[in-house]
Amino acid sequence: MRNSCHILMHKNTEVADILTDDGYIMDINEIYASQHLPVGTCKDGEFDIVLLAKWWRYRAIPDSRKDIRDVLQALQIYNTKALAAKCMGLSLSDHYWIKPRGSDLSWESINFFDNAFSEELGDALFGDYAETVKDLYSPDGTTNGNLKKRWKIINGERVLLKAGTFPYQQEPFNEKIASALMKRLGIPHISYDVVWIDELPYSVCPCFTDQNTELVTAYSVLASKNKPNHQNFYQHYLNLCNEAGVRNIQTFMDKMIVTDHIIANEDRHTNNFGLLRNADTLEFVSAAPVYDSGTSLLYNKHIDIPNKSRVIECKPWYETHDEQLKLVSSLDWFDASKLDGFGEEMANILEPLKEKGYVNEKRVNGLVGSVEERIADICDICEK
Ligand SMILES: Nc1ncnc2c1ncn2[C@@H]1O[C@H](COP(=O)(O)OP(=O)(O)OP(=O)(O)O)[C@@H](O)[C@H]1O
Ligand SMILES: [Mg+2]
Repeated sequence: MRNSCHILMHKNTEVADILTDDGYIMDINEIYASQHLPVGTCKDGEFDIVLLAKWWRYRAIPDSRKDIRDVLQALQIYNTKALAAKCMGLSLSDHYWIKPRGSDLSWESINFFDNAFSEELGDALFGDYAETVKDLYSPDGTTNGNLKKRWKIINGERVLLKAGTFPYQQEPFNEKIASALMKRLGIPHISYDVVWIDELPYSVCPCFTDQNTELVTAYSVLASKNKPNHQNFYQHYLNLCNEAGVRNIQTFMDKMIVTDHIIANEDRHTNNFGLLRNADTLEFVSAAPVYDSGTSLLYNKHIDIPNKSRVIECKPWYETHDEQLKLVSSLDWFDASKLDGFGEEMANILEPLKEKGYVNEKRVNGLVGSVEERIADICDICEK
């Protein structure tokens, strides 16, 4: 798709006339509906083409995704941005797409929430690209993130399958453990389960967006307005959410920070949480339920590493979990009795991974012990 003219669409709203080249957004000819521009492409109300180009690039699979070079080569597609353009940029996380200028396609006829999609790209991303892939009409080309993943429609429901990494293959199980933890504590979350495909575990979770509701990541929210010098980024985020009319954002963030502390999450970057917005009214509805918590529980580290707290990364507000925990404004909602027996539940969740030999008894006990220690940290703070 060299030097093509497209209309950036938000459902059926024509947002802007854009110029694309090999899958990249190069320029904008005209803006038709500025209020529908993706959040974060206007800073302090000023549209910036660089931000729009970046927003589009971020929709694509990152170049760092394992095996993506081989898949692109097999599909004979230049880059992941061009791959995203093959499905017109449609995704299952928001309602944006790019329509070839002059086409009379409608949102109803092409969106992935209502219409079935091809499995061929998903198969290719999961390693099966021996046969020539013809149909790239799939949300897999616009689902970012480093882990190997694909969407499937199972019993009429759209679900995301996401792989783990060697040596422990823990990420899918960590998602399930995080879900169990948040369920007990009454924290809004996406419920992940684990399925095995060809002897490897994958997390599986339902889509948390729908025909009307889309995800706006914290990254986009933060990109929409310059931070005043006297504020830190966390306060800036809270203020922007409050200005957007999202109620109880601080309580939600308290809960997410505590969850991330307990599971020692290392990857809560600003695209791993955000807000839900009604794509028709553009009203923000709530914080998005907690998702993507698998890069946690020492997922790639030996259980005996010394100075654990120093080597466990923390994002997005501080570099250590102890520092970040200080942002929590209230623990009134935290009921430690809800976590009675959680260690046992966690060990049960990890049992299949142990049976398959990816983790041993010592590692399971070590992980349970470290979670119990972290729960005790929270209980100590509550007592103080
Ligand atoms: N259940 C869901 N419903 C709708 N969109 C989702 C869902 N889960 C994930 N997404 C979208 O897909 C993107 C990638 O998913 P996810 O963050 O789980 O992958 P990841 O590979 O673990 O990411 P990372 O690179 O942050 O480790 C998310 O940033 C979000 O935009
Ligand atoms: Mg992610």
